[in-house]
Amino acid sequence: MEFFLTLENIIQTSDPQKKIQDCTNFYEAFTKGEVRMAPSCPPKIFQSPSYEAFCTIVAPAQVPRRSRLGTREGRGVLLHAIAHIEYSAIDLALDACYRYRSMPWEFYKDWLEVAVEECRHFAMIEELLRELGYKYGDFPVHKGLFDAAMASLDLVSRMAVVPRYLEANGLDANPKIIAKLSRFGDDFAKRIQEALEVILKEEIGHVAKGDRWFGWACTRAGIQDMEQEYFKQVERVYPQTLGSKRGLNIEARKQAGFSSKEIALLTKG
Ligand SMILES: [Fe+2]
Ligand SMILES: [Fe+2]
Repeated sequence: MEFFLTLENIIQTSDPQKKIQDCTNFYEAFTKGEVRMAPSCPPKIFQSPSYEAFCTIVAPAQVPRRSRLGTREGRGVLLHAIAHIEYSAIDLALDACYRYRSMPWEFYKDWLEVAVEECRHFAMIEELLRELGYKYGDFPVHKGLFDAAMASLDLVSRMAVVPRYLEANGLDANPKIIAKLSRFGDDFAKRIQEALEVILKEEIGHVAKGDRWFGWACTRAGIQDMEQEYFKQVERVYPQTLGSKRGLNIEARKQAGFSSKEIALLTKG
């Protein structure tokens, strides 16, 4: 089994069950040393995300709004949006392994571990979604995460934009959803909250891995001011976002490697 070619196939697999199975098997084979690295072609720049096969893709403003969390439909919309983030995150973690060649073994191990955790997150949320009578693909989605990844192809930029910006945003959003759900107090709301708590804990690890490899990539590129580089990279993909952030999960971000200065710069206008 060749590492990069197998990854290319798993990333392009659209069937969620198959992707999860293949991803889990691949991780196992990798840790057992059964995968060889002999890339025959450079990494592809994907033109469309793998979920295009079964999801209707719309502009971000047209995605159904997450509201009315007391209703079946409102909860379906919420769970679908989270499932979509998790599913996208599987591909993004695999893409980090696929795209960057001749990296230390730990780099591949880290991002495959993340991919397997994202598979678990997706499966957990999708199960709840199914209990409500929906499935992944039932609501329109946007492809913002995919676009951001394809707009950040070099390693410094990718580590800044995907784990250290997008996944870090998830650390802020997650407790707010948990808080909104606590108004209801029913069993199903509690089960969503429990799933979100598991996700939050593991996502701190993903952002921390991003922090580690962002630092590594900056050092390799001879970049001295990593804080300045971070803001430069994020602003390139998301202009005027920095300084506009409110309600950061400061504790989680600090655990994941954000400096106090970065946190201050993210929030101050
Ligand atoms: Fe996740
Ligand atoms: Fe993640």
